[in-house]
Amino acid sequence: DASSSLHPKVIMPVIRTLFDAETSHRLAINFMKYGGPFGSKDPKKDTENLEVELFGQILSNPLGVAAGFDKNAEAVDALFGLGFGYVEIGSVTPKPQEGNPKPRFFRLLEDGACINRYGFNSDGHSAVLDNLQARLTSFYKHNKALLPTNHDPSYPFPPQNLNRSLSPHSLLAINLGKNKLSAEDSDEDYLSGVRLFGPYADVLVINVSSPNTPGLRALQGGGRLGTLLGRVVKERDALVVGSDGRRPKVVVKVAPDLGEEQVGDIARAVKESGVDGVIVSNTTIGRPASLKSPLATETGGLSGPPLKPLALSTLRSLRSQLPPLLPIIGCGGISTGSDVLEFVEAGASAVQLYTSFGFNGVGTARKIKDEL
Ligand code: FNR
Repeated sequence: DASSSLHPKVIMPVIRTLFDAETSHRLAINFMKYGGPFGSKDPKKDTENLEVELFGQILSNPLGVAAGFDKNAEAVDALFGLGFGYVEIGSVTPKPQEGNPKPRFFRLLEDGACINRYGFNSDGHSAVLDNLQARLTSFYKHNKALLPTNHDPSYPFPPQNLNRSLSPHSLLAINLGKNKLSAEDSDEDYLSGVRLFGPYADVLVINVSSPNTPGLRALQGGGRLGTLLGRVVKERDALVVGSDGRRPKVVVKVAPDLGEEQVGDIARAVKESGVDGVIVSNTTIGRPASLKSPLATETGGLSGPPLKPLALSTLRSLRSQLPPLLPIIGCGGISTGSDVLEFVEAGASAVQLYTSFGFNGVGTARKIKDEL
């Protein structure tokens, strides 16, 4: 039972004592991947008053898992089982890469926050595609009645009434990153991700905001973002569609460390390119004066409650410059129902979290939904 207070009060503190942040992260993925029927589950059904509309779909609740937790699509169904209405896997890079040397993930216990400089450790496009295909194969094995007649096993599209998440009331997003050694001025890493993962995703996320890949955040500036997003949208529009006629939505994920001018550039690029939405925000390279942990000096992106004011203020300024119906997904320091409401009041259509899930464990979605 994911909602048991054993998780945040006993199991997670014990795990923190026994294992460093990266080992705990790996263990969590393995438990979810191999836990099968013994894995934790959200024990309750979502009530109707939690429903939200995102990209024309009704989600059973507004909570998502942010990118970086399940980088290689190993635990997608376990995460949906924990009660999230939206799961974002990745960031995925085209070629496999190891990321930065360890240690590269730190818990700032006094602040309930984290700093990471993973640097896009990724199994690469091909391995992640295998995991997504295996997920579909397993789905059809357990739902033989839904298997289309003359089914092509490599054909990725699920039955008409289901999203790529394999449920009618949730969405699966795939977050695309860039290899460290790819040319800074090349868009091909994103474009190949669109071609490969388009048929498997309800949403494709263009991540130009991770602070741990040199040059990546520069893609947010000036006219550069508009060109990139325009190409991505064109590539998406060229995807072959299944019988449901759907193509994935494209959203761009931005940093919380933007000046007024950059926010203006992003708003212009979003409007001109025709992308479907924005995620605000990634981690911050800022270090708010309130931080107490001695680990606050580590290099990397800060996440958790100290990020929330920065993410909210970026969301508000972007919201004021975008068409009112263009969805923004809020992210940064969310751990309670009232945090979610703050993001919704600032103009978010749905939200995501990572750090509070890392601290509080498998009952996080249920607790926040009950508070909401
Ligand atoms: C992240 N985040 C992230 N974002 C992204 O777009 N691609 C990625 O690969 C990662 N990797 C990653 C690893 C770790 C360890 C953390 C903590 C975070 C950022 C994440 O998706 C989110 O935007 C921020 O963490 C802010 O949300 P929280 O954690 O404050 O709820």
